Amino acid sequence: MTLEARGLGMTFAGGVTALDGLDLRVEPGEFVAVVGPSGCGKSTLLAMFAGLLTPTSGEILVDGAPATSLLGRAAYMPQRDCLMPWRTVLDNCAVGLELAGASRRQARERARAEVGRFGLEGFEDRRPAELSGGMRQRAALLRTFLAGRDLLLLDEPFAALDALTRRDLQDWLRDVAEADRRTIVLVTHDVTEAAYLADRIYVLTERPGRVALEETVEPPRPRGPEVLASPEFAALQRRLLVTLGFA
Ligand SMILES: Nc1ncnc2c1ncn2[C@@H]1O[C@H](COP(=O)(O)OP(=O)(O)OP(=O)(O)O)[C@@H](O)[C@H]1O
Ligand SMILES: [Mg+2]
Repeated sequence: MTLEARGLGMTFAGGVTALDGLDLRVEPGEFVAVVGPSGCGKSTLLAMFAGLLTPTSGEILVDGAPATSLLGRAAYMPQRDCLMPWRTVLDNCAVGLELAGASRRQARERARAEVGRFGLEGFEDRRPAELSGGMRQRAALLRTFLAGRDLLLLDEPFAALDALTRRDLQDWLRDVAEADRRTIVLVTHDVTEAAYLADRIYVLTERPGRVALEETVEPPRPRGPEVLASPEFAALQRRLLVTLGFA
C-alpha cells in the first residue's frame, strides 16, 4: 500500500507537541527508515500509522484516500516488546497468525519453523520472563513478521541487541524484505542501519518532529557488507549525522 503523512501533527493532552507538519510518503514495497533525535516523535508516528493514535492535525492517506481506520492493516512492533507474559514464546509468536484466522495448530507450526532463524530454539515453551532482553526482542520481531500484513512498522527492533546478533538480524531483515517485498517503515537511531537496509531515509528534526532531510540510498538494496566500506556510503552517513547535529 501507499502510505502518506500530510502535515501530520500530534499534540498530547498534557500539552507536548510531538510532531508538527510532518510530510512523508512510503511507496508500495518500499523500505523506508526514519531516524531522528530521541523524543522527536518517531514512536508517535508509528503508533499513528498503526492506527493506535489519532493525529491532532494533518492526515494520513492510504492509497490516496484518508485512512479511516488503520488498525489491522499493519503489523506493528512497538519499541517495548509487549510480549504477553502468560503465553510461551511459541504462542506469543503465533498470536498474529491466530488473529489473522489461522488455527492454533497451524500458527504454532509456522512459528516453530522460524524459531531457529531467530535464535530462539530450545526456548519455544519458555515464558517471556525467562528470556534475555535480546531474546524478547527477537520473539517480538518474529511475531511481527508472522502476522502476514503488507505493512510492517518496526520501532527500533534491534536496539537492545548485542552487535553480532544485530548484524545477523539486519541481514535477515534485508533478505526477508527482498524476498517478499512488503512495505516496511523502520524507526532507528542507527544511521548505518538505516543506510544499510533502506531504500529511502527520512531524518526528523528535534521535537516537534518534521522532515529535515530525505535521502535515497544508492546502490539499490539488497546491499552487502562491501557497501559499508564505500566512500559513497560514508558520505551518506555523514550527511545524515550532520543533519542530526553530530559531526
Ligand atoms: N502518550 C503520551 N502522552 C503524552 N506525551 C507523550 C505520549 N507519548 C509520547 N509523548 C511525548 O511525545 C514526545 C515524542 O515521543 P516519542 O515516543 O514519539 O519519541 P521518539 O522519537 O520515539 O523517542 P525515542 O527515540 O527516545 O524512542 C516525547 O516528548 C514524549 O514525552
Ligand atoms: Mg521511540
